Amino acid sequence: MIKTQLLLACAACALSIGAANADTISFSTEAPPQVMLDMIAVFEARTGHDVVVNQVPVVTNDQFAQYKTWFSQQSTDVDVIYSDIIWAPQFAEHLVDLTDAAKDVVGDHFPWLIQSQTIDGRLVALPVYTGIPALFYRKDLLEKYGLTVPKTWAELTTSAQIIQDGERAGGNPDFWGFLFQGAAYEGLTCDAIEWVKSFGGGDIVEADGTISINNPKAAAALDMAASWVGTISPEGVLAHMEEDSRGIWQNGNAAFLRSWTYAYALGQASDSPIAGKFDIAPLPAGPGGSSANTLGGWNAAVSKYSLHKEAAIEFALFLGSAEFQKAYAMSLAEMPTIISLYSDPDLLAAQPVMPQLLEVLNNPAVRPSAATKGAYNEVSAKFWTAAHNTLAGNGTGAENLEILAAELEELKGSGW
Ligand code: GLC
Repeated sequence: MIKTQLLLACAACALSIGAANADTISFSTEAPPQVMLDMIAVFEARTGHDVVVNQVPVVTNDQFAQYKTWFSQQSTDVDVIYSDIIWAPQFAEHLVDLTDAAKDVVGDHFPWLIQSQTIDGRLVALPVYTGIPALFYRKDLLEKYGLTVPKTWAELTTSAQIIQDGERAGGNPDFWGFLFQGAAYEGLTCDAIEWVKSFGGGDIVEADGTISINNPKAAAALDMAASWVGTISPEGVLAHMEEDSRGIWQNGNAAFLRSWTYAYALGQASDSPIAGKFDIAPLPAGPGGSSANTLGGWNAAVSKYSLHKEAAIEFALFLGSAEFQKAYAMSLAEMPTIISLYSDPDLLAAQPVMPQLLEVLNNPAVRPSAATKGAYNEVSAKFWTAAHNTLAGNGTGAENLEILAAELEELKGSGW
């Protein structure tokens, strides 16, 4: 008996010696996809650390609110967070400076992305993937109706109506022309800034802090989107987030979809009814001829209040590594931020559309999180409210943007 206890004690001591620096860290993220869980297991096996997933709500602005509370409480329960591209300026003071830890790898990433996560000279998050939107279109249906990929919003509106009418007449009453994210949340800010910028209506708040949103081009862009609701887009679009619109699209009930690249991987999966029937292109252009595509994406950041900073930094570096990014891109078509991966033969074979998608970086719509500093979340909420009201028929684009501009001036006046 004593011998057994001794043996057990020895086994335990050998284990703890073997994993002398092993630590347990929390990783806060929405429900992780399988590939992330698999990669976490790789990290754990390699380092001896345990990563406990702390699941947060799916909607990015709800996550933001949750982190804001935790950070203000200086919670030590939070070690690594998955951080939306827009959060860096707002959370910088609560995040560890990764400049030193990442010095050998930062040069591998898109420089503009590293810049977006660098606040006052501190790298507060390491890019994991860059979110790039696209116009998803049913190539079989374009062919059926003798149409080409729409290059402008006006063409999209006409083609969506033609296909919708044809498919409904052909016996599918649930068919819609165009789906996008119209619920009142950050996703609508992403969509609406694309409409506005492609119309030449600016970036809501310009880099120098000028509030530019109250202009006729921006109003026309919102009015155009409002004209879709109930015609080529269901009334329900007013409550659609990414997964709502993707669900309808993937069931084969829409001609066009605005979404992020993850919908490409899911749509092409072997069990998808539309596998092989669709393709993607940059979003359509406005009347001035330019297409604007909102930059999204997620980054790994370490809380300043973490009691396990060393292991947390190690994990953040792993999330941003080529190894992790490649696995993520292969499985989910999430776009790497490490430039060399765009010539990786395995990745090109698995996701041949990726290099073409980089084209959209020529005219990205950048949400004004740097320009509005700590106030971005409020600015965005006011913008998506104005867009949502317009979509819902509560006022015209011009009326809602006038109200918005006044609210933003007030917010700016109180210092952002
Ligand atoms: C995607 C983007 C993110 C954006 C969000 C809006 O997750 O990567 O940047 O804020 O969609 O729903």
